[in-house]
Amino acid sequence: MKTTAKAHTNIALIKYWGKRDESLILPMNNSLSLTLDGFYTTTTVEFQDSLMSDRFYLNDRLIDGKEYARVTAFLDRIREAAGRPDAFAEIHSTNHVPTAAGFASSASGFAALAAAAAKAIDLPTDEQKLSILTRQGSGSACRSIYGGFVEWEKGAKADGSDSHAVPIAPADHWDIRVAAVVLSSAEKKVLSREGMRRTVETSAYYPAWVDSIPDDLAAIKDGIAERDFEKVGEIAEANCLRMHATTLAANPPFSYWHSTTLSIMQAVRDLRSAGVPAFFTIDAGPNVKVLYLPEYEATIKETLRNVPGVHDVTVSRPGQGVSYI
Ligand code: DP6
Repeated sequence: MKTTAKAHTNIALIKYWGKRDESLILPMNNSLSLTLDGFYTTTTVEFQDSLMSDRFYLNDRLIDGKEYARVTAFLDRIREAAGRPDAFAEIHSTNHVPTAAGFASSASGFAALAAAAAKAIDLPTDEQKLSILTRQGSGSACRSIYGGFVEWEKGAKADGSDSHAVPIAPADHWDIRVAAVVLSSAEKKVLSREGMRRTVETSAYYPAWVDSIPDDLAAIKDGIAERDFEKVGEIAEANCLRMHATTLAANPPFSYWHSTTLSIMQAVRDLRSAGVPAFFTIDAGPNVKVLYLPEYEATIKETLRNVPGVHDVTVSRPGQGVSYI
């Protein structure tokens, strides 16, 4: 059966940073994200008897190398779960990410792939099972199964069966916006996978990061329930800074920030001083995402576009979870 799924990407307000099991992708800490409507992936999967290996097309291009290996390794898990080790698939994926938006597509990519492949091979497709499956492709992707505000519960079991996303509030709970500010489409020097590993193994600040999560989570969930923008923004920004502080204390130390990253952080602080509520968050790369309320959209866009070194600003609303089309 040929199956097509669509999934949106998400931005973490409380970051996932560090694994306790690299093979199953089990995190050290719970994380919390907002699914975004502006960036998504559609993926079609068809298992075909005639195939001797998977064929993966991304944006109509046949993919090989590392990207192909990651997809096929993920499909190996799906084949194993379905008890069909010789079932190979043709996969067509399209990333709907505005040109050079600087948003990693792995979250929407693995969520759409997991949903399409699971259905095509007759595995259960309830959201919790899909989230567990998706997690094994890329951790942050397990949150993209749900729309709106989503928590990834780290779980405690060694087999990962209790490590999955849970919905906190749907997309229509609260119209807050996220501006993705693009500085550079260059490949990041330290990939998130490698950066996380180095931080867990060597950063003197890593234990403090893990210890700080429960309080952040409890407070941000209150803020989301109360639709308290200042509270949610302050916690998200502080959590992001703490995550990035762990990289500075790693050995060898590293940072994802460029000089323009710092300029945008300052522009956001200046907006706040001028009475415009806005907060930044940054993942494992130099690009910045800015949280704001709809009434300030024009000001936010104009201010961010005028920061020297900024190439593009793309805005998103809360988005929906995974769906079949
Ligand atoms: C900084 O989910 O890309 O964006 O599980 O190794 O595939 P893997 O990592 P990935 O890491 C995302 C890290 C982050 C924070 C977050 O999204 O929570």
